[in-house]
Amino acid sequence: MGILEGKTILVTGVLKNNSIAFDVARLAQEQGATVVLTSFGRQMRLTEVTARRLPTEAPVVQLDVTNPEDLDQLADRVREHVDHLDAVVHSIGFAPQSVMGGNFLAADWSDVATALEVSAYSLKSLAVAAKPLMVPGSAIVGLTFDASFAWPVYDWMGVAKAAFESTSRYLARDLGPDGIRCNLVSAGPIRTTAATSIPGFEQMESSWDGRAPLGWDIKDREPTARTVVALCSDWLPATTGEIVHADGGVHAMGQ
Ligand SMILES: NC(=O)c1ccc[n+]([C@@H]2O[C@H](COP(=O)([O-])OP(=O)(O)OC[C@H]3O[C@@H](n4cnc5c(N)ncnc54)[C@H](O)[C@@H]3O)[C@@H](O)[C@H]2O)c1
Repeated sequence: MGILEGKTILVTGVLKNNSIAFDVARLAQEQGATVVLTSFGRQMRLTEVTARRLPTEAPVVQLDVTNPEDLDQLADRVREHVDHLDAVVHSIGFAPQSVMGGNFLAADWSDVATALEVSAYSLKSLAVAAKPLMVPGSAIVGLTFDASFAWPVYDWMGVAKAAFESTSRYLARDLGPDGIRCNLVSAGPIRTTAATSIPGFEQMESSWDGRAPLGWDIKDREPTARTVVALCSDWLPATTGEIVHADGGVHAMGQ
């Protein structure tokens, strides 16, 4: 029996089959879960094609996390496929290129605001939109890139991740009384569409393996996806407001 047997899970952020969320959805199905995906706008078609590559094709519902109408309608759209949610996976990130790649001092507020809205505030938006379907014992899990440091080229996306990590702790505070956990997985660099859109991201990719006591493969999404699935399961029932690193151990090393 899988660790998600009989569970229903909403997975955001599946774009292509190299998305971290794709492996989360695949593993969740392999572990017994029923999965519903979200996507939006022009990316919807791509997500639908990718959804067919899962062990079981998953339905895709419309959700742009910055669109109040989509957020209002999320619960009803998901209810067309499942009657409750045991877990919600936030695997969403976006920042205009102008605020990454070494442009920290030059970045405009309007572009920074976009990064913060899509990549940090959206965790709160998604949690509130999905809450009517969430049951006691359910989990929200998001993906971060360790915001304790100033990294090369990550710039305002790093600031957005710091806000994201803080948002997760406040959600843990406010949703805990309803029996809902909120945790993050802090992953090492993985070669996805979002990562390759960051100018100079290969600077972070190239040094990670050498610094990781367990080693690190930038093309292997499995360790990160497994950690997300574990946090979605019943196996960490007293854990909330936590950040679990799936980074080969880099976070614990000095230079
Ligand atoms: N790839 C890495 O190195 C890495 C490392 C640590 C954390 N992460 C995080 O993992 C998460 C998933 O990213 P990924 O690397 O799999 O890349 P990805 O490009 O496959 O996924 C990013 C997703 O965000 C979605 N998205 C963007 N704007 C949205 C909006 N307004 N509404 C709804 N969805 C929106 C996209 O549709 C896409 O599916 C992100 O939060 C990212 O920051 C990635």
